[in-house]
Amino acid sequence: MEWNVIRTGVVASTNDEARRLALDGAAEGTVVVAEGQNAGRGRLGRNWYSPEGKGLYASVILRPQADPAAIPTLTLMAGLAVSDALTGLVSESAQLKWPNDIWIGGRKVCGILSEWIAQAQPTPCVVIGIGINVNIRAEEFPDDLQHPATSLALVRGQPLDRTVVLESLLPVLSTRYAQWQAVGWAGLREEYVARSAIEGLQVRVTFNNDQHQGTVRGVNDQGALLLEVAPGRHEAIVAGDVELLKE
Ligand code: BTN
Repeated sequence: MEWNVIRTGVVASTNDEARRLALDGAAEGTVVVAEGQNAGRGRLGRNWYSPEGKGLYASVILRPQADPAAIPTLTLMAGLAVSDALTGLVSESAQLKWPNDIWIGGRKVCGILSEWIAQAQPTPCVVIGIGINVNIRAEEFPDDLQHPATSLALVRGQPLDRTVVLESLLPVLSTRYAQWQAVGWAGLREEYVARSAIEGLQVRVTFNNDQHQGTVRGVNDQGALLLEVAPGRHEAIVAGDVELLKE
């Protein structure tokens, strides 16, 4: 994959910048990277804390030739790629928390927000927004975060060049995307589950007013989380917030 990296100063959201470029026909492989975001967006309408110069804020345009039903698994593919990249940068393993969070030591270091751009030219496309906490200090994180956060600098005990993070990410993202295109999600699923931070654990999943509780039993062919809600009875969860329950 040829990446075309477009660097900007502080923007509202790199996903919005990438969307604008996609509406104008930007090619697959276009990546918008910002110094900071003043309206960084997270999943389920949340904000993404995006202080200037301290994180990697990147949005990637992909134009997959695939069945629309497979699109949600593209974001899981991106999570796997981030986990590959981060595991090479820190000595602890970067685990996946369905659908798209990356945890190190039980704390969130990265979030991914994928958006389907139906009006993109010449055809619909996907923007994958990746936010990685790189050089944020513990006391800088806002108090009201949904889940305790960490940064790569906190894990390593020393700061890290954000360009190094981007340069580690793009090659593995190419590799994982090529695998996804060649064999589909089925070829990546086992590795995703092996790196899951929640596999086999008791969780509660909340989506709007709907709650499900059970034991995590992998991810299905469509990328949905499989929950064993009663012995031998499984439910496939397509969206929601996963909270670990104390055993
Ligand atoms: C989440 O965990 O809720 C997803 C967070 C995604 C944040 C990234 S930062 C780059 C891109 N631009 C945004 O506004 N959001 C994503």
